[in-house]
Amino acid sequence: MPTQPDLALAAHLGDDVHFMPDDGSTWPTEPGSGRGRSHGTSSSEAFDRWFRYPAGFASDYVSLLLKQLELPKGSLVADPFAGSGVTGTSARTMGYSFFGIEAHPAIAELASLKLQDAPTDLTGGMKTADRLVRLARQYSDGVDRDFSAETELTRKSFAPDALARLISLRDLIKSGEAGVWSIHAKWALLSTLRDVASVRVGWPYQNPTKTKKAKFADPLLRFQQRLEAMASDLRAVPSRENEQLSLNVVHGDSTDSASWNLLPQASAHGCVSSPPYLNNFDYADATRLEMYFWGEAANWSQLCSKIRSKMITATTQQSSVGSAANASKALEGYGDIAKRISDLTDDLRSERLARARGKEYDRVIPDYFSSVAKVLANLWWAMKPDAPIVWLVGDSAPYGVYVDTPAIIAELAESIGFKAEDDRVLRRRGQRWAKNASRHQVELSERLLLLRR
Ligand SMILES: C[S@@+](CC[C@H](N)C(=O)[O-])C[C@H]1O[C@@H](n2cnc3c(N)ncnc32)[C@H](O)[C@@H]1O
Repeated sequence: MPTQPDLALAAHLGDDVHFMPDDGSTWPTEPGSGRGRSHGTSSSEAFDRWFRYPAGFASDYVSLLLKQLELPKGSLVADPFAGSGVTGTSARTMGYSFFGIEAHPAIAELASLKLQDAPTDLTGGMKTADRLVRLARQYSDGVDRDFSAETELTRKSFAPDALARLISLRDLIKSGEAGVWSIHAKWALLSTLRDVASVRVGWPYQNPTKTKKAKFADPLLRFQQRLEAMASDLRAVPSRENEQLSLNVVHGDSTDSASWNLLPQASAHGCVSSPPYLNNFDYADATRLEMYFWGEAANWSQLCSKIRSKMITATTQQSSVGSAANASKALEGYGDIAKRISDLTDDLRSERLARARGKEYDRVIPDYFSSVAKVLANLWWAMKPDAPIVWLVGDSAPYGVYVDTPAIIAELAESIGFKAEDDRVLRRRGQRWAKNASRHQVELSERLLLLRR
């Protein structure tokens, strides 16, 4: 059972309240806001600041968790939902090797970039930025640009002068002008987009109908600052020559055993990860602005087929009748817990049918848990005996039906063979909606789940 927080105190303190364990356990609590983060990756910590991934961990907390695992020197840390690579960069800082799998192709590229050896000539990065900025200025200023090839979201998100500069930079980078710094320059530019947008494009969803003053007036200057920050983070990484670390992020689906091929069986010493929550958050849609601008997708259907295709079903948009039926069948092998999932599915079906246009949460639930079970089975294969696994995961309550996601994951893990050692509340969440009468009033929290192989 999770350690219950003092919810009355939490309500008094407001949204996203953090808890101190009161049972003598030494698990560290998640630090509150600050250090450049209110949610998502920090905008000020090294590497995290390369791109603000809304689903990202706080790196200071991941470091505390890794320390708590007391892994031997030279250990390998795994993360089946690697995201922007926060566990990876924290592991490297602590002298551990890392293996991560991430389904979002661009975010996997970003995580991988953070862990790659930097180009040897770091000052060359600055010269590259200078040249790109000079050329972009030349090609955009005073030039009457045609934006018709851009998506509507891109056209509406920036003032014309800013957009002309952004497009010039993009075209220069795509033409190879940034040389060995191409991918770094790409991410410096993608991270610049929200900084210079003149409409509301905050996370998670981008709404180009509401105007605002751009946070930074000059995209070229901001791009240069961002590339400089990346080079400075890379400069601070100790040379890996002596350490022989192996640092890999695979773009793949962690439910698929083929995505784990790079990893020898029973080789990982620990895992710190966070699976998608069952809260209808769409990781592909959250990066729509960047994906449209870079030309990775031009419309919703491409976003689904090219960006979202490897992700586990955690939103109603991803659900389908066939996939839910297959998942329910696959779960039958999991004994009692299958019955609990099937009861939840029935409750959610009734809720859907009671509404004119109810959402298909009942199709998400079996698919989600069946996928998580597959990831756990792969993790079982990859981890050493006795290896600790820490997952941060929230519960949810679609239509007010309480889904105790962490407890269900713990039971699935136990039926695979893991020991479920701890399940504790880190913070209460979702209070932003508490006054909305159409929302459910179920208390939700973020939990830390400790499993052992
Ligand atoms: C809660 S986020 C984790 C973020 C990460 N901890 C970080 O610091 O950036 C969950 C991540 O899982 C990814 N994901 C979803 N389904 C996946 C799958 N089948 N295989 C690998 N990654 C997946 C999502 O794209 C998302 O980036």
